[in-house]
Amino acid sequence: MPLLEIREYPDPVLRKKALPVETIDDGFQRLIDDMIDTMYAAPGIGLAAPQVGVLRRLIVVDASAGETPLPLYVLINPEVVSREGEQVGEEGCLSLPELNSDVARAARVTVRALDRTGTPVTVEAEGLLARCFQHEIDHLDGVLFMDKISPLKRELYKRRVRKALKVGGGD
Ligand code: NI
Repeated sequence: MPLLEIREYPDPVLRKKALPVETIDDGFQRLIDDMIDTMYAAPGIGLAAPQVGVLRRLIVVDASAGETPLPLYVLINPEVVSREGEQVGEEGCLSLPELNSDVARAARVTVRALDRTGTPVTVEAEGLLARCFQHEIDHLDGVLFMDKISPLKRELYKRRVRKALKVGGGD
């Protein structure tokens, strides 16, 4: 199964709003499988379709950490339908290499979506899984976690990326 190229900031595709998925055909199933493989290979705990250049509302998440195995979630057209409480925790993103920072999120969320067979599902999540769902669903609206960190840290990161692009530029 081919691994997909993960787009990195400041690729403009990361800032676009993804469109609802209307048809779950064989090509779409292949995209799901390739995204799952790409997420595990990275390695990462979540991936949204815009991160591989596809502007459709699809996320894959496996927030298993250490000894706590969790299911692999494939969520199509996911929506956060309720949120409760607050948690602050460190996030990273495959599209924002070398950036880690605390982000405030809801502590618990309920997400409604379709699974990969097109069946409606409701998932209740807390802790890391809830954080991961919110992070990935943000990607579908062109929102990156860097938008939610301190302005100073954000500016430093942008500057670092600009500098790296300049040094490596010209090809
Ligand atoms: Ni991300």
